[in-house]
Amino acid sequence: MKKLFIKTYGCQMNVYDSARMADLLAPLGYAPAEAPDGADMVILNTCHIREKAAEKVYSELGRLKHLKEEKAEAGGRMVIAVAGCVAQAEGEEIVARQPAVDIVVGPQSYHRLPEMIAKIARGTGHALETEFPAVDKFDSLPDESRAPGPAAFLTVQEGCDKFCTFCVVPYTRGAEFSRPAAQVLNEARRLVSLGAREITLLGQNVNAYAGEGPDGKDWSLARLIRELAGIDGLARLRFTTSHPRDMRDDLIAAHGEVPQLMPYLHLPIQSGSDAILEAMNRGHQAADYLRLVARIRAARPDLALSSDFIVGFPGETDADFRATMKLVEEVNYAQAFSFKYSPRPGTPASTAARQVPEDVKSARLLELQALLAAQQGAFNASCAGRVMDVLFEKPGRKAGQAVGRSPYLQPVHVDGAGDLIGQIRTVRIAEVLSNSLRGAWLREDACVSEAAE
Ligand code: 5AD
Ligand code: SF4
Repeated sequence: MKKLFIKTYGCQMNVYDSARMADLLAPLGYAPAEAPDGADMVILNTCHIREKAAEKVYSELGRLKHLKEEKAEAGGRMVIAVAGCVAQAEGEEIVARQPAVDIVVGPQSYHRLPEMIAKIARGTGHALETEFPAVDKFDSLPDESRAPGPAAFLTVQEGCDKFCTFCVVPYTRGAEFSRPAAQVLNEARRLVSLGAREITLLGQNVNAYAGEGPDGKDWSLARLIRELAGIDGLARLRFTTSHPRDMRDDLIAAHGEVPQLMPYLHLPIQSGSDAILEAMNRGHQAADYLRLVARIRAARPDLALSSDFIVGFPGETDADFRATMKLVEEVNYAQAFSFKYSPRPGTPASTAARQVPEDVKSARLLELQALLAAQQGAFNASCAGRVMDVLFEKPGRKAGQAVGRSPYLQPVHVDGAGDLIGQIRTVRIAEVLSNSLRGAWLREDACVSEAAE
């Protein structure tokens, strides 16, 4: 067997793509390896969303170059491939900056990897593939060959037509595309037969999903979710990431009506200032978002909300930043991600006048993150004593522990667990720790850990 090491950066869509690349290369004799040392093939599946993410790739390539040289000295060959959004955005430049790279392959061209590897094996030079081919890459990828684990990802939509002025995604991932519903349903059934109990539907704009249904009509995400909920053994459904503009009535209603749909929603707003939202080309105002949140919470009162925020977008004044803080106070998030604005080559905002100084960005980020951390802490604290279902996904750090996720995506661990992986069990939240919750068994479900309490 040849050794394949894949390192994944960035979003969950990359995690999904990495698994599919491993599936694609398995029939060629490549088996997954834990480390790049001595590997026959290394793939860096990269992220271009912020400058830091892209720069990490070049540092890693520097380290890989040495491993490649060591392997060559020992008479072997290590093929280095750069995949993902850095590959798409920078193409040839990657090889110019790091000649040890053999293959550069964009996210829409993974199905071409086998022929690219063959080309490399035949001669010298490198192979580059960053087109957006007309063939659907999903049609050309094989079925998954390995068990996905209890919580699986399934890409249903790719690309973005929104063109937020800070974002590279519309350029690196291309136009919005939805996979046909039948294809998604078949893949979901296979994942469940391989042991998945939960599926997270992925897409850069997943709630804009409009895949062709078996009836010939375009299905909305809500329609797809209702159909998926009918799959025997599939206990939980989630989806990410959503745009507020695409949060339609049927999807809001599904939150109240489909028990498998978990009460957790990642709904990025980016800023609480209307002027900044306008400059970002978000297509909605802060008040629209607040109204939307109220409607989703009316449908599903225990919904936990998450968001993304950017501070220091060009032209952001202190008053704009205060509006973001105010919005966060009003919404009260269970969790959120926040970033300093990072100018990305080729995006409109990168050349805007009035870039915000680095120290101002840093101060705003610190203040926002303190508020978001306090809200997250309060949400977790409110879970103490509550009884909730946990899907156990893997063993914990200590012997006999198992770790899973609550409906609100919080990590929950239990002691004295036995073999719980893949099971959904009801626990009482006995303790709220900084990064996770500790669950205890209910009386009727008592086991060793309860007796020890
Ligand atoms: N600078 C900072 N953050 C960004 N994001 C996207 N582009 C940028 C950028 N240029 C953030 C947004 C998005 C998340 C995935 O990354 O908040 O929702
Ligand atoms: Fe980027 Fe905006 Fe599209 Fe999200 S909606 S991927 S932030 S352009």
